[in-house]
Amino acid sequence: MMPQSTPRVVPVSPERPPLENTLGVILAAGLGKRMKTSLPKVAHSLLGKPLVLWAIDALREAGVVDITVVLSPAQTVVAEKVRAYVANLSAMVGEDRAEAGACVRIAWQTEAKGTGHAALCGLRGALEANPSLVERLAELDVLVGFGDTPAVRGETFARYLASHRAEKNKVTVFAFEPENPRGYGRVLTNEQGAFIAIREEKDCTSKECEVRLSNSGFLCARGDVLHDVLPRLGNGNAAGEYYLTDVPALVLSGQEGRVGLFKGADEKELAGVNSQEQLAAMAEYVQARVLQGWMEKGVQFLAPKSTYVEPTVTFDADVVVEPFTYLAGNTHVPQGTRVKAGTRWEGNT
Ligand code: UD1
Ligand code: MG
Repeated sequence: MMPQSTPRVVPVSPERPPLENTLGVILAAGLGKRMKTSLPKVAHSLLGKPLVLWAIDALREAGVVDITVVLSPAQTVVAEKVRAYVANLSAMVGEDRAEAGACVRIAWQTEAKGTGHAALCGLRGALEANPSLVERLAELDVLVGFGDTPAVRGETFARYLASHRAEKNKVTVFAFEPENPRGYGRVLTNEQGAFIAIREEKDCTSKECEVRLSNSGFLCARGDVLHDVLPRLGNGNAAGEYYLTDVPALVLSGQEGRVGLFKGADEKELAGVNSQEQLAAMAEYVQARVLQGWMEKGVQFLAPKSTYVEPTVTFDADVVVEPFTYLAGNTHVPQGTRVKAGTRWEGNT
């Protein structure tokens, strides 16, 4: 067997106090066929960290401390990465009392039957682990995130949850307007801008394809609503899958309550990774964000575009980084260093 490398995990302390009555579910059991590799999609590395761990960290930064990651039993590589992350987290929780109660668990989806079915597996996993929650479903909000949207900020998830709660919605759709909506589900609205339905591109008429308002994929819903609606989803669509995206329209049709619309502004942050090309574009965007953070702390990059710096690397001020450098793992660059062109530092991973 090939040795498995330990994932590079950036310890995240939630920037916000742990959110009560909130369950996070991350869908990561899809096959990722469009990546054209033998590695499961969410195990692909973005700046040294597997996509699935970016998704977990974003939820934790938002203050979500109860997280269920939905995986396929065939994805042993991903399961190992999540387990290593959980072990690392347990060690951190020991040191940080604010994180007491933090929990990341795995739920299995044995067959990839679609995002709606995956969300059902995740919700069931969370409730099996904590049966007392079944009585309190109406008090809970569930935030469903994806394993293939690594750039979303914790702060964005926090605002999304806050808006869902403030508007007292039963379900809140998270939409955005990308320059090119190709591949995304479209969010259909009426003339007043109120939500009607999400239509997957494969199921859109040519007129619906012209709609730019797109679905980020994330869904925030009250626990009792999801628990009721997820098992009722049908699969009569072009892909023959149970779509999570059908949940809001089903809630509307049953007049079961308000469906809200939350809009994101930064399309790069919300982009999904479905192909190698999209992964490369994502790496460029996230790298620029990491370097910008260090520039604000006084690090000078002579040629940012030819500099590879993982988010686990730390710098003191007054560092100058020359072009063509590769800094990875838990490398620390002390004050006043000039990192010479061609340097490769990997730290301990
Ligand atoms: C999905 C949305 C689409 C949205 C887009 C945003 C649905 C039906 N479509 O499409 O509206 O615009 O994301 O990026 O939700 N997964 C499972 N089990 C499954 C299928 C998928 O866990 O059976 C996981 C995948 O691992 C992935 C996530 O769900 O992390 C999304 O699946 P993907 O196939 O990438 O959906 P998209 O086609 O991108
Ligand atoms: Mg996707």
